[in-house]
Amino acid sequence: MACFHPLTMMLTLVLAARLAAAVPFKNESYPLTTVPGERPWNPIEPLQQRLAYINATAMAVSWNTYTSLPDEEAVVYFGTDAWELDRTAPSRQSTFETSRTFSHHAILSGLEPGTEYHYRVAHTNCFGCSTIPTYSFTTALPAGDCTPYAVAIVADMGLMGPDGLTNSTGKGAGGALLDNETNTIQSMVQSLDAYEHIVHIGDLAYADYFLKASTQGFYGADNVLTNATSIVENYERLNEAWYDQITPLTSQRPYMVAVGNHESNCNNGGVKDKVNNISYTAQICMPGQTNFTAYAEHWNMPGRPGPSQNFWYSYDVGMVHYVVLSFETDLGEGLYGPDEVGGTGKQMSGPRGKTGEQIEWLRQDLAKVDRKKTPWVLAFGHRPWYVGIADAVCEPCRLAFEGILYENNVDLVLTGHDHVYSRSVPMFNHTADPAGYDNPRAPTYITNGLGGHYDGLDVLDSPLPANVAHGIDGVYGWSRLTFANATHMRHEFVAARNSSVLDEFWLVRAREEGTCVDGEEGHTGKDNGKGHGKGGKKDKRDVLARLDE
Ligand SMILES: [Fe+2]
Repeated sequence: MACFHPLTMMLTLVLAARLAAAVPFKNESYPLTTVPGERPWNPIEPLQQRLAYINATAMAVSWNTYTSLPDEEAVVYFGTDAWELDRTAPSRQSTFETSRTFSHHAILSGLEPGTEYHYRVAHTNCFGCSTIPTYSFTTALPAGDCTPYAVAIVADMGLMGPDGLTNSTGKGAGGALLDNETNTIQSMVQSLDAYEHIVHIGDLAYADYFLKASTQGFYGADNVLTNATSIVENYERLNEAWYDQITPLTSQRPYMVAVGNHESNCNNGGVKDKVNNISYTAQICMPGQTNFTAYAEHWNMPGRPGPSQNFWYSYDVGMVHYVVLSFETDLGEGLYGPDEVGGTGKQMSGPRGKTGEQIEWLRQDLAKVDRKKTPWVLAFGHRPWYVGIADAVCEPCRLAFEGILYENNVDLVLTGHDHVYSRSVPMFNHTADPAGYDNPRAPTYITNGLGGHYDGLDVLDSPLPANVAHGIDGVYGWSRLTFANATHMRHEFVAARNSSVLDEFWLVRAREEGTCVDGEEGHTGKDNGKGHGKGGKKDKRDVLARLDE
């Protein structure tokens, strides 16, 4: 049973008030207990709490502390009643050579699908010393439940605030926010009630820009030293600051991640200090700062434990099967991933699995999908191959994946990496599907790499390449997908600055008879009568009302 010691409550209020001005969010009601990236006064404070779906009856809860904890003492209390957290989940700890923190991962299992739970991360050997409040989550709708819902998609969303994306940049960089412009993290926090979970398609923090930003005179009082201590401290601190910043999202919505090139190492493959004419490569990175180590250790996505966990996996939510892939590595025999030795990125990373493992896994995963239960199948990977910048495509990615996705009738492929928004018509083998968005045979391709980070904007080709139906550049934002039923899905581009929708389209697919026959009224979840739950009929009306707007 969790404890609510008066001292705990008082500390929460005091710290929240003291630090509100330091937190770079407009959502000042969220009580971060420390400035993002700074060590807390209490080293066992459970920071960076983040949720991830495992399946409809299990949820992963991960968090970090600045000291090692015995697994049996780092636990999650949870239950359907916020005032009676009557169940306990143990955790496992992981860390790596250069990390200043320890990750703890707990799996909360035996849950009811589509049901609201409350949870509190705690340390059993420290009475009242955690100042983090109780949060809640809702488990995934079970496969075959076709209750309408929405999901938020973002990519290339890095550190915000004075060390990242703000209203100024260094020499030679661009993309600064306007004064007081709402950034994408803020917009997504403000819109929490408008989606059920989040998929972040790679490039998570841009901590690997610390040296680039320093050489441009933006970050650090003077150029950051490239000795081992400085590399470790700067890269790790910026990573931690980002995990702190997104906690208002990750603690309240399942946050599913794909890997991007900026997770690869501490220096994005290399940077040139033009002032001093020095080139720094990925060789400066310390052990623990290469081959996606921080990404691999921080997250607990579904799938087989081991080096490929968090790199390729799938999960179901209601009427949708989500497939998350690594377009950075492990493209199969004869192809080099962009981040691998032999690839284009100078990242010197990968592989994460055996030769051909990801490709074989993808074939088997898609072959098992029951389209009568999950009629929608979406694929996510970091780099695009049909996008509004003709010379910024990943051809090895296309060669590795396009055929498999097409053969298995994937509906939508979502990517990032290019810092623009680009919506293609349905495509296969560089040829547009004549049906357009009305029951096409081929997948539709959407790139939205406008999450935002230091130096974070690209420019679309003008005119747009053939078969790119719409493009947006120069604006930060995220995407919202709404699944209305088995045949109709809407995509929206949401501008971060005011959460307005700048582009929307509907994708329509015909389905076999019998699809979702148990679906629309088949929701089995409970909202516990406490307001936040995602109970079936009420929420269906809410989502459909938004669709009518
Ligand atoms: Fe990228």
